[in-house]
Amino acid sequence: MQPFEHRTVLRREAVDLLAPAPGKVFLDGTLGGGGHAEALLDAGARVIGLDQDPAALRAARARLGARGEQFVAEQANFRDARSVLDRLGVREVDGALVDLGVSSPQLDDPERGFSFRAGGPLDMRMDPTRGEPLVALLARWDEKALARIVGTLGEERFARPIARAIHRAHREGKLENTAQLAEVVGRSIPRKAWPRDLHPATRTFQALRIAVNDELGALSDFVGDLPRIVARGGRAAAISFHSLEDRIVKRFMQANARPEVPRGLPLREAEMPQPALRLVARAQRASEQETRRNPRARSAILRVAERIAGPLPNIRIEPGARWRN
Ligand SMILES: C[S@@+](CC[C@H](N)C(=O)[O-])C[C@H]1O[C@@H](n2cnc3c(N)ncnc32)[C@H](O)[C@@H]1O
Repeated sequence: MQPFEHRTVLRREAVDLLAPAPGKVFLDGTLGGGGHAEALLDAGARVIGLDQDPAALRAARARLGARGEQFVAEQANFRDARSVLDRLGVREVDGALVDLGVSSPQLDDPERGFSFRAGGPLDMRMDPTRGEPLVALLARWDEKALARIVGTLGEERFARPIARAIHRAHREGKLENTAQLAEVVGRSIPRKAWPRDLHPATRTFQALRIAVNDELGALSDFVGDLPRIVARGGRAAAISFHSLEDRIVKRFMQANARPEVPRGLPLREAEMPQPALRLVARAQRASEQETRRNPRARSAILRVAERIAGPLPNIRIEPGARWRN
């Protein structure tokens, strides 16, 4: 097995704020190489870890399998966390964590189709056994849909010319691997507008990956289910790498921590909506020292909230349906 080399981002910050202790049970929805899970286990907690990628799961099991009953790992999308917990007979957990996006080994393995440096298949699925690979979606998306995806999810200002060029190359049968895709994207952006410290196809690849894996939809489902997952007094933590991810997390936490009072309703004090969450600390970013060691940490933002009330209101934060497949 290839070594799984992923540098865990905001490890100490996330784990300290989750407050693990012996006897507590945590859900790690994005096991990856098991870096956060390991720190939770080291603090004596039990961890139920999920990852949709079988390769990540193998790596996490190899690293943490010796913990015996303290650690359980399941292949699943975190949007299905509630049903996995049901299957395991776990009613609620003391904390839940998601460290979003892809891991370094996923990006680096050309066969997974995430890499613009090597000519891998046009795939980009984190779970290669489910859903449609990029190549199937490219056949289905029209130029307008593609431009919307690249513009919204990649925050790419050249989304239109990029979409036009991708669409044309695909139609002409000139798009067979990720290296060709990266080249088509690079050619669609004027040289003088190429980012200085990034490959010009970075934003487009990010957008396509988010769309292929319905990453924002999965996150919306997950936060919507948190009331049915985390116990009162328990904490939920999310590390986002993209402003749209962070917006979903932030809006969910703020809507529950400061519920809106319906306008015009003559409510008495006792009828006022009560906060169901308490924000734990301010949003955290990686230290300069960490970003120097691991540039990927630069865009990470950690938010943590604690459940303080009984049933949370059913607030669903939509990812913005416009870009959906
Ligand atoms: C950034 S890595 C996590 C790294 C991990 N915290 C560590 O310290 O090693 C993200 C992982 O989450 C997984 N993942 C992303 N979205 C997921 C989802 N919706 N459900 C389950 N796993 C997901 C990816 O396959 C990847 O292995």
